Amino acid sequence: MSVYDLVVRGGSVASTEGVFPMDVAIRGEHIVALGQDLPQGTREIDAKGRLVMPGGVDAHCHIEQLSGGGIMNADTFESATRAAAFGGTTTTISFAAQHRGDRLRRVVERYTALAERGALTDFAFHLWISDPTPETLVEDLPALIDAGHRSIKIFMTYENVRLLDEQVLDVMAVARQHGALVCAHAENHGMIKWMADRLVSRGYVAPKFHPVSHPRGSEAEAFERLIRFSELLDQPIVLFHVSTAEGAAIVRRARGEGIKVFAETCPQYLFMTADDTDRPGLEGAKWMCSPPPRTVRDQNALWRALDLGDLQILSSDHAPYRYDETGKLSAGPGSTFKQIANGLPGLETRLPLMFDAMVSRGMSTIEKFVEITATAPAKIYGLHPRKGAIVVGGDADIAIWDPNREVTLTDEAMHDNSGYTPFAGRTIRGWPEIVLRRGSVIVSDGAIHAKPGSGKIQLRDCADSMKPSGTPSPEFDPQTNFGAHLA
Ligand code: URP
Ligand code: ZN
Ligand code: ZN
Repeated sequence: MSVYDLVVRGGSVASTEGVFPMDVAIRGEHIVALGQDLPQGTREIDAKGRLVMPGGVDAHCHIEQLSGGGIMNADTFESATRAAAFGGTTTTISFAAQHRGDRLRRVVERYTALAERGALTDFAFHLWISDPTPETLVEDLPALIDAGHRSIKIFMTYENVRLLDEQVLDVMAVARQHGALVCAHAENHGMIKWMADRLVSRGYVAPKFHPVSHPRGSEAEAFERLIRFSELLDQPIVLFHVSTAEGAAIVRRARGEGIKVFAETCPQYLFMTADDTDRPGLEGAKWMCSPPPRTVRDQNALWRALDLGDLQILSSDHAPYRYDETGKLSAGPGSTFKQIANGLPGLETRLPLMFDAMVSRGMSTIEKFVEITATAPAKIYGLHPRKGAIVVGGDADIAIWDPNREVTLTDEAMHDNSGYTPFAGRTIRGWPEIVLRRGSVIVSDGAIHAKPGSGKIQLRDCADSMKPSGTPSPEFDPQTNFGAHLA
């Protein structure tokens, strides 16, 4: 009998450090050996001519979740993670979304039960806080962080879920004390509301006015504000979905100042522009998300920021709504852009789009692809080395890619429930053919083999990324004359 349950043989194993010809041996759920000419396994996968990559970690996706605007998104954990798996992603971090009046502890129980029933990939949650009552801040949040839910999501805009500045600081102070990251949808609420109301009152209501209503300065202003909160408390933050050149430049400067800021962008900001919403009737709603995609100049700046490491994470921000009365058009055929649910499906296309651009078209390298789509998100969110890399002792989460397979994306070929992809019509080269999650083949031959509910929750320890760097500003540091007033 073999010592290995499975050997992935003869492929090129990709990491952030390089691409090496190696076999990967798996016992149970884990990788137990890497090397050339490993002994025969009980089962073998022939990976000659293939790239053997870590399963993707998608650290920002909305699954089976009520939006800020109160619209239920189109996916269940089963449909969303099925799409993720087909696209080479084996771990998702979605949201346990607290709405006002909800008890946070119950929210986490509810989302955990939904994921345990449906998920095919492994999963974790960001704790989405929109009701920072004493019950939330003193009782539930500390206990949930200590239990391993080590990232929090806050909104600075969206009427029903946004926090005021002082509430953001309250949440950040609890995160600092217990060791969690604070992730943010950072846009200036007042600027957006003022612009949107003015546009609508003048009759400019089509989807193409949605990007106009989110001025680029609203991102810059909110980034700068949150960064100064982070500096005051010495609390690490993640700025979600950077969309502008100015936003990327602000992140770069803050990191240069030694402030612990991480940042992500998403395929829609690299491959789409505001013009994508300019379509007949309400059709442009399919391309509407917040913040909106901007210009080619912004795309170029974001690519450069990824290259420089100013942005570390590439997530999908999968937020699926059908183009019908259950989703995008829930306010009816006369909807203004303000009434249309924001968000795009993207769990399945995230990795193929990025592989095609970065590797097949030569805009970057395989190493960088692995870094921004798997290893860096796993490290920043406390999942590494269990997830995000092909290493001995890690979970056997592996996507075996045919780097030459050409696929034209179509609405019909997608496996989530939104019914469309904003990237339909693009032909891309490189596709994940076989996907393993903890040693089990969950995708092969174009079919899914995992049972709903076979994904496992990933509780997390406090990673270095989540720890304060140790020097809060004198105004907050209880060791100083100023900060003593706050102790
Ligand atoms: O438009 C988007 N991104 N919708 C999802 C909610 C959010 O803003 O993250
Ligand atoms: Zn957002
Ligand atoms: Zn989002």
